[in-house]
Amino acid sequence: MIIAVDGPAASGKGTLSKGLARHYGLPHLDTGLLYRAVGWTVREHLEAADFEARAIAAAQNLDAAHLDDVELLISARTGVFASKVAVIGPVREAMRAYQVGFARQPGGAVLDGRDIGTVICPDADVKLFIQADSKARMERRARQLEARGENVDRYALYHQIEERDARDMANPHGGFYQASDAHLLDTTLMGIETALRAAVAIIDEAMARKGKH
Ligand code: CDP
Ligand code: CDP
Repeated sequence: MIIAVDGPAASGKGTLSKGLARHYGLPHLDTGLLYRAVGWTVREHLEAADFEARAIAAAQNLDAAHLDDVELLISARTGVFASKVAVIGPVREAMRAYQVGFARQPGGAVLDGRDIGTVICPDADVKLFIQADSKARMERRARQLEARGENVDRYALYHQIEERDARDMANPHGGFYQASDAHLLDTTLMGIETALRAAVAIIDEAMARKGKH
């Protein structure tokens, strides 16, 4: 069973995907971490003439099985670096095989990101597109960062998230849109448990319809 979960920044797709992975006993891949790792590797070369070449090399050499220092990778700044390398076609191409391989392991998997239902797993058994109002998403990310001890300027964070979402949606190589067969789940007014229950209901119904679950 392959479950594809996509959505904008801080929509709750990661938390939801972890919950789904636990619920169905499947492995989970947060594909944002791959982009964050590449962005982090080239963070000091954003203005360099060879930025793209460096980012492509970093993606080709990424050891996805050993994404270290995940705490660092989760910071808001790293999200911005990630979205800058994510617009480079060959960067996405370099990491595609790993993601497809992860999805196709025996038994299946849950993957979350931006292009899972559209590019990485167009044949996923169930696709979810997670949405939430931008102010709610900013507040969630602010609390998440504060819990990690980061100082948060909510005004700046709001604009940073809006800007990153806009770049992701305009990314010609990004595949970031709701697939025609994806189920939309708006979690603006949902807590984590409610969102998980809603997602499980959608998945169980979809699998029952396919006669698979
Ligand atoms: O993966 P993504 O960036 O979409 O979001 P996340 O990291 O799963 O969620 C961002 C923050 O919002 C986390 O601290 C979650 O605990 C919180 N959250 C929430 O408050 N309510 C939800 N329905 C989902 C997530
Ligand atoms: O958790 P949040 O949604 O804030 O970010 P993330 O999922 O860790 O992704 C960071 C950035 O990586 C995104 O803003 C995208 O630019 C890029 N990304 C992507 O292009 N495709 C994916 N499948 C996952 C992330």
